[in-house]
Amino acid sequence: MADLSVNICGIDFKNPIIPASGVFGYGREYEEFYPLSKLGGIATKGTTGKLRTGNPAPRIAETPSGMLNSVGLQNPGIDAFIEKELPNLLHKDTVILANIAGATAEECAEVAGKLNDTDVHMIELNISCPNVKQGGAAFGTSCQMAEQVTKAVRNATKKPLVVKLSPNVTSITDIAKAVESAGADAVSLINTLLGMRIDIKTRRPVLRNNVGGLSGGAIFPIAVRMVWQVSNAVKIPIIGMGGVSSGEDAIELMLAGASAVQVGMACFTDPYAPIRIINEMNDFLDSQNIDTVREIVGTVQPW
Ligand SMILES: Cc1cc2nc3c(=O)[nH]c(=O)nc-3n(C[C@H](O)[C@H](O)[C@H](O)COP(=O)(O)O)c2cc1C
Repeated sequence: MADLSVNICGIDFKNPIIPASGVFGYGREYEEFYPLSKLGGIATKGTTGKLRTGNPAPRIAETPSGMLNSVGLQNPGIDAFIEKELPNLLHKDTVILANIAGATAEECAEVAGKLNDTDVHMIELNISCPNVKQGGAAFGTSCQMAEQVTKAVRNATKKPLVVKLSPNVTSITDIAKAVESAGADAVSLINTLLGMRIDIKTRRPVLRNNVGGLSGGAIFPIAVRMVWQVSNAVKIPIIGMGGVSSGEDAIELMLAGASAVQVGMACFTDPYAPIRIINEMNDFLDSQNIDTVREIVGTVQPW
């Protein structure tokens, strides 16, 4: 058995595999399949200041090797999350990353501040959501907005802060450097890529929201490229994700520079995906006589 444990920002993970935010809810449905303690960690559904109902249906569309979603930030709000969901999760013997978001930097800071009195292990700040004070452009699409929201949340919490980057940008490395200088302890990437499908008979977009986020195997090469570029640009650790569906994919993202890996859409096609991926990583490392997964991080040999 290879040693799969990793440490990110002083937090010990028993293995590097973490179901991604938005595909695992608060773990309740998956708990029927396996003990959540087998997971390295869990990233919870994005939580905002107040309850949000999300976008109108249809909000899911299948695409080749992927899926478009416009679920939006449907969640019960931070107070209900802390009262009803977090206590159960904190008993599961796994690292909990509370994914947070907001319409303004102040809202993000307020949500982070409310988590200070809890035992949640890390905060993952989603900067792909619209900043209402800047005409609805996503925080993560400009260095200035990314820096501003990271600083606001940094000032509100001493918990390890992971800033989750948007891939819908010209230069992901510039945004990564901006959030690093604003006080992020780590970055996670990638969130979904903006896409669109149209029903050719009705001439209506398939999603009621017109556009949505593309996830799944189709985006994996983009995730590998962006993790590699960011790992060459910042010193803080990286949690990689985007289209991972096998242990080999997870190893590839770690070679590109990720210290841990989140698994999103693959959890929908196979609820056991995170467990299978952990086992496949172990099998690969054993087959290569590699003792610890930590030793492969960032060891790609570029031409
Ligand atoms: C239905 C759905 C809901 C999501 N909700 C969130 C969310 O609330 N916060 C967030 O940061 N990312 C959210 N994501 C993005 C995923 O966490 C992940 O970054 C993305 O799907 C890419 O990984 P994958 O290809 O493995 O799914 C969501 C993705 C999906 C498919």
